[in-house]
Amino acid sequence: MKKATLTRFLIDEQYNHQSVPADLRLLIEVVSRAIKAISINVGKGALAGLLGEHGSAGSGDASINVQGEAQKKLDVIANEILLEANEWGGHLAAMASEEMEGPHAIPHRYPKGEYLLLFDPLDGSSNIDVNVSVGTIFSVLKCPEGVTQPTEKDFLQPGNKQVCAGFAVFGPSTVLVLTLGNGVHAFTLDRELGSFVLTQENIRIPEETKEFAINMSNMRFWEPPMKRYIDELLAGKTGPRGKDFNMRWVASMVADVFRILARGGIFMYPRDTKDPGKAGRLRLMYEANPMAFIVEQAGGAASTGHERILDVQPTGLHQRIAVMLGSKNEVERVALYHQE
Ligand code: F6P
Repeated sequence: MKKATLTRFLIDEQYNHQSVPADLRLLIEVVSRAIKAISINVGKGALAGLLGEHGSAGSGDASINVQGEAQKKLDVIANEILLEANEWGGHLAAMASEEMEGPHAIPHRYPKGEYLLLFDPLDGSSNIDVNVSVGTIFSVLKCPEGVTQPTEKDFLQPGNKQVCAGFAVFGPSTVLVLTLGNGVHAFTLDRELGSFVLTQENIRIPEETKEFAINMSNMRFWEPPMKRYIDELLAGKTGPRGKDFNMRWVASMVADVFRILARGGIFMYPRDTKDPGKAGRLRLMYEANPMAFIVEQAGGAASTGHERILDVQPTGLHQRIAVMLGSKNEVERVALYHQE
């Protein structure tokens, strides 16, 4: 049977399930086109002089983003591709990005729509220069009714209000994962045709797993429930869990979450005392929320250890949060340890 392209899939969803209004379909098409362009740039790497830091010729004077992190050239390019692609279609009220301090307004010369788009243009950017998978994460919210000039507070909606979320992994193949609140589907980029083709429908995360993902080098900074959980996993067959666990850590959330969608597992970036000013490493609005939506839609769970990620009321666009997501039984266990 001929496989459906993303366009065909969205049209089918629009007509068969009424789950995709025309403007949302346009939004997803535009974002997917931007992702193709980012994938091409990531693939060129050193050939196009795209590796390394932005604004620096090796002199250590790289530009610093709102997170206090040195921006890579590809971070800046990916951000510009997404902004430029989404400005003029009439589907958005505003955008927000990891790379920009405040919301990006739609220029007055273009029509405006009813959606808010948030993105991490290039997740895992410490992996760019070492040729390891990176990706793009995005989240879509409705602009509050009556708001024509959205400000930061209009974006501060809990993750359970997302109408769509997705991410792409630029790995050996480029894969786009998408949810519209009706299951999770994956599309692989056919590089010859230039189309995303549906390759996995209704992905389900197994409830049981023997694999975990965490940056173990932070162990001495973790809180006691986290230490307890990981100690038990490390104790293996002869410990309280009675089985051996394996560890994987790509250090690109997109690749780690994609592995969990593919074969199960638990991914954790807990709160720690390394930098007491930060309530976690990952950003709520454009990393934790879209990934939590996707993981829940695939039958998994996503928690801060204390509450469901999707129920957290955001207080800032770039707010950080503890993240534990993946196979349901493991996420529930680690959350229980936090409650005890
Ligand atoms: O910005 C987020 C991120 O790059 C994630 O993609 C990844 O999971 C994490 O940071 C890696 O953090 P660390 O440098 O501690 O391994």
